[in-house]
Amino acid sequence: MSSAVFSAYSRYYDLLYRDKDYSGEAHYVHELLGRYGVSTGNLLEFGSGTGIHGRLLAERGFHVYGIERSADMVARAEGSEGFSCEQGDICTVQLDRHFDAVLSLFHVISYQISNKDVLAVFSRAAEHLKDGGLFVFDFWYSPAVSAQRPEVRVKRMADDSVEITRIAEPRLFPNENRVDVYYTIYARELASGAIAVMEETHPMRHFSLPEIDLLCEMTGFKRVGTEEFLSGKPVGEDTWGACVILRKRAKT
Ligand SMILES: C[S@@+](CC[C@H](N)C(=O)[O-])C[C@H]1O[C@@H](n2cnc3c(N)ncnc32)[C@H](O)[C@@H]1O
Repeated sequence: MSSAVFSAYSRYYDLLYRDKDYSGEAHYVHELLGRYGVSTGNLLEFGSGTGIHGRLLAERGFHVYGIERSADMVARAEGSEGFSCEQGDICTVQLDRHFDAVLSLFHVISYQISNKDVLAVFSRAAEHLKDGGLFVFDFWYSPAVSAQRPEVRVKRMADDSVEITRIAEPRLFPNENRVDVYYTIYARELASGAIAVMEETHPMRHFSLPEIDLLCEMTGFKRVGTEEFLSGKPVGEDTWGACVILRKRAKT
């Protein structure tokens, strides 16, 4: 996926996801980290987007540093006390710091479609964690994608000045664990009626637990928890968004 993806999209990202319960998610992540022994401290966020989770977790007492590939998303991410971010690629980032946990929220890991990139992201997470630190992320879960199959979806959101209509058309590549989502976004300026049309393709990879475990073995993690993101339910064919909690193993 090129870094141009999310550039047009980023203009309307917060409006499109205004109905997403970021505050509930920050509460869930805070509770989840606490369950695995990280109630406070320094968090590194991979794919921090416009910084909403980061700012909410900073309000809860964490120090959060975000890495985000899209310059437009970074420009839209307001810093706050306890939260800042920089443009960078989570496959190659090198900060020379160690964190209590690395987070990656809202399917960022599913944007890493090649084995090389996924392995790189796991390795970068391990390098930036203290021994025993946590790598927590949500991702598209293969059993649910195979059982339910993605469908065409239309989403419409508006504010005082613009109405956005987004059509998402998926194309499955079953032998590659991948779904390419073709987005067509119509932005209608309410005052003038002018319509701008944008198109983006988001290739998404889905993962099974044996794949995650293999990646863990290769990069020094152990999977210590697995649940449906937000609900905490066991994962299965009805779990589109799975969440894993990986612990960095101490070097022997
Ligand atoms: C669906 S958005 C999620 C953003 C944010 N975490 C949120 O919850 O709103 C996925 C984000 O991951 C970023 N991303 C994907 N691959 C990346 C990479 N290799 N390095 C840095 N950021 C990446 C994209 O630019 C995009 O902002």
